[in-house]
Amino acid sequence: MDFLQKSRLAPLYARELAQFHARTPRSSATRETARGFMPDGVPMSWMSAFFSHPPVFVDGGEGSIFRDIDGNSYIDFNLADLSNTVGYGNTVVARALAGCAARGIQYLLPSMDAIAVSAALAARTGMPFWQYTGTASAANIEAIRIARAYTRREKVVLFTGKYHGHIDITLAKGGGPDGNEPARPSSMGVSARATADAINVAFNDLDQLKTALDKGDVALVLIEPALTNCSLVLPDLGFLEGACEMTNAAGALFALDETHTLQMAYGGLIGERGLKADILTLGKGFGAGVSLGAYGLTPELAQFIDKHQDGDTVPEPGIALGGTTYGNALSLAGARAMLEEVATPEAHNRVARLGARLADGLDVIIARHGLPWRAFRYGPRSGFCLTPSFPRTYAEAIRSVHADFYNLRHTYLANRGIWDAIVSAGPQVSFAHTEEDVDRYIEVCAELIDEIATA
Ligand SMILES: Cc1ncc(COP(=O)(O)O)c(C=O)c1O
Repeated sequence: MDFLQKSRLAPLYARELAQFHARTPRSSATRETARGFMPDGVPMSWMSAFFSHPPVFVDGGEGSIFRDIDGNSYIDFNLADLSNTVGYGNTVVARALAGCAARGIQYLLPSMDAIAVSAALAARTGMPFWQYTGTASAANIEAIRIARAYTRREKVVLFTGKYHGHIDITLAKGGGPDGNEPARPSSMGVSARATADAINVAFNDLDQLKTALDKGDVALVLIEPALTNCSLVLPDLGFLEGACEMTNAAGALFALDETHTLQMAYGGLIGERGLKADILTLGKGFGAGVSLGAYGLTPELAQFIDKHQDGDTVPEPGIALGGTTYGNALSLAGARAMLEEVATPEAHNRVARLGARLADGLDVIIARHGLPWRAFRYGPRSGFCLTPSFPRTYAEAIRSVHADFYNLRHTYLANRGIWDAIVSAGPQVSFAHTEEDVDRYIEVCAELIDEIATA
């Protein structure tokens, strides 16, 4: 019998959803008012679309916990999808941001923090030159543009199961390595012409990558060093090194998108494994919760964009890079505090230990029920892997993205003071979490799995 069959999960979910509604009357009423001003009552659609229960309106937070306007508290294992790994109300970050805000948030000129942040990123990742944007998506857009300008080619190779932000060319499906059928939009409103230049290949498959590169028309290979947006796929040993070598040999640039994986280890995977890349894109957590993206460049590419600047005083059009608020003083003050004082090597070791504690606890629950599952473990990140072995491909990984189990789990945990990660990710500890927080997550998950088993 399927442990997660609908007939078991549905009655539990109905009970939990009713309880969720009963616990959040002010959020519900507020959302009704907000619907008069914003679609579905939220400022950004993900805030309701990510959850099967209604969104809660936030009152504030402290450490690993936030409160909603009904007075419910939640230990947060979603971390705003890794954009808030610092936790709530961190005093060091708060002081840095308040100090900057009091002096001036934005000048469209470099602040001294820009040098400190670039030096810190260079030291931990090995990428020597840095540019800043407002988001990771924007960093990826500029990475693609630089690669096209540099190689004078158009195609971009991506990996099935990836997520690089809401960028037209990356919102592509199909379009396999042999080029027989062009990639097409994976969602509404995306131009078919934009996705036609995307090639999707399988993660951990160097043969497919070689086929995609063989025509000599690829500008950029853009890859998350571990797929983190379809549950979790870790790279085979040597895969990333081989992919980089093969890409450069084919005259294309190789970009690692460490928007998520920078949070997993000090210096991300590039720092941990000493990987090579032409461009390294970042975002989310390293900005201490303030919107910020960045990309690291080799000296050769740094020189290239320097030579091809685009602006009002340069005679010829260059590469269109930048945005009015990119690299502003406030975001870089937050990033400096985060990098220098929060995300230290010791802190990364501590969250890795907490992540292992989380995975160990989930493995105990899984073993107690004899389930053919295991716990994901990747630094601070864990979660239920719903297959007996860890996935190597998107097709295997997506089996752990189980909507009915997730909807029940998120609602059940919320009713017991825990905010779980979004369905495509996994619970992750922030720099503010404690052993007690982790133990509470395990305890509530144990109750949930016991209830499913006896349903
Ligand atoms: C690997 C990766 N790159 C880029 C992005 C885009 O980040 P943002 O939405 O902050 O621009 C995401 C978001 O989930 C991501 O996971």
